Amino acid sequence: MPLAAMAGQATSASFGHTADGQDVQIVTLTNSHGVRARVMSYGASLQSLWVPDRNGKLADVVLGYDTLQGYLDHRQYFGATVGRYANRIAHGKFTLDGKSYRLSLNEGPNSLHGGAKGFDMRVWKVLDVKAGAQPSVTMEYVSTDGDQGYPGTLTIKANYTLSDDNQLKISYLATTDKPTIVNLSNHTYWNLAGEGSGTVMDQALMIPGDAITPVSDAAAIPTGQMVPVAGTPYDFRMAKPIGRDIRDGSSQQLLFGHGYDMNWVLSRKEIEPHVVARAEDPQSGRVMTVWSGKPGLQFYSGNFLDGTTVGKDHHVYRQGDAFVLEPQLFPDTPNHPDFGSARLAPGQIYRNVIVYRFGIDHTGK
Ligand code: BGC
Repeated sequence: MPLAAMAGQATSASFGHTADGQDVQIVTLTNSHGVRARVMSYGASLQSLWVPDRNGKLADVVLGYDTLQGYLDHRQYFGATVGRYANRIAHGKFTLDGKSYRLSLNEGPNSLHGGAKGFDMRVWKVLDVKAGAQPSVTMEYVSTDGDQGYPGTLTIKANYTLSDDNQLKISYLATTDKPTIVNLSNHTYWNLAGEGSGTVMDQALMIPGDAITPVSDAAAIPTGQMVPVAGTPYDFRMAKPIGRDIRDGSSQQLLFGHGYDMNWVLSRKEIEPHVVARAEDPQSGRVMTVWSGKPGLQFYSGNFLDGTTVGKDHHVYRQGDAFVLEPQLFPDTPNHPDFGSARLAPGQIYRNVIVYRFGIDHTGK
């Protein structure tokens, strides 16, 4: 095969404009197996990802919209980069170096995924689009000092790289000019049978965490405890269908979240990247393995998809039609010293490298 035909491709095009006239780009990365990722500069978001099943048939395994307008009209974090602080900060308040800060509140009294205007709603600058063996795109966003109440100018780079062995790597890097807090993650809604194909309850999930950080009530703020998963519906240490225990009413936590919406404790501090989850669709044979070095993993079973929006290809997304896996710090870490630290100082580099590897299980049907 000629070299050119084997190399990965990377192309960029306009995806439309925001209400205030900013141009949004969409970058398409394709590897030599035809695996294709589309990343848009609105929210530095994964707009689609086409991966093969055991018969080589490609399907788009991420929920979203065909047009920019869908994303502008509905803030659902589909595929988005979430920050400056992914998940919740209780009462939008925290103290850093003795000074108190108040954040923008966007979920009752709390701040979720960066506040009223999180990074998922910003137009990122496309810095670099590279074809070749590992097609990639790098985007940047500069969040000003005081943005949503957070101190310090934060410069964030999001790089998406597609390898020829069907791995999609997202690297988030951030630097600041004043001490601040940061916790970035990606909020893709996955359905390994293909977006719009129905429920993910039969898809199997493994999470190697032996504890969770329970929440106090439906507002989903952690109590500060770490509770073992053994003997509870939260035990995913051995792979099991997502839906197997989701109706187990012995767990009040499942009622708070209308299903799984919980942080798993993977480690007590940042460690070398390791497997943080493995998901498999028995029907199609698609397997996704997720790596990160972050101590926590938020697993959310798409509980608030409620059939009120029309996504790609006229598909209506209903409760449980996708799962979200967000490697990150524990929710509300700045208010729980036992959870570690989210502090970033000038001269330091914040990193969250998340790898999604796609493969096939040939042993199934
Ligand atoms: C949170 C959910 C929230 C969802 C919004 C998840 O990361 O854990 O509580 O409803 O994001 O899409």
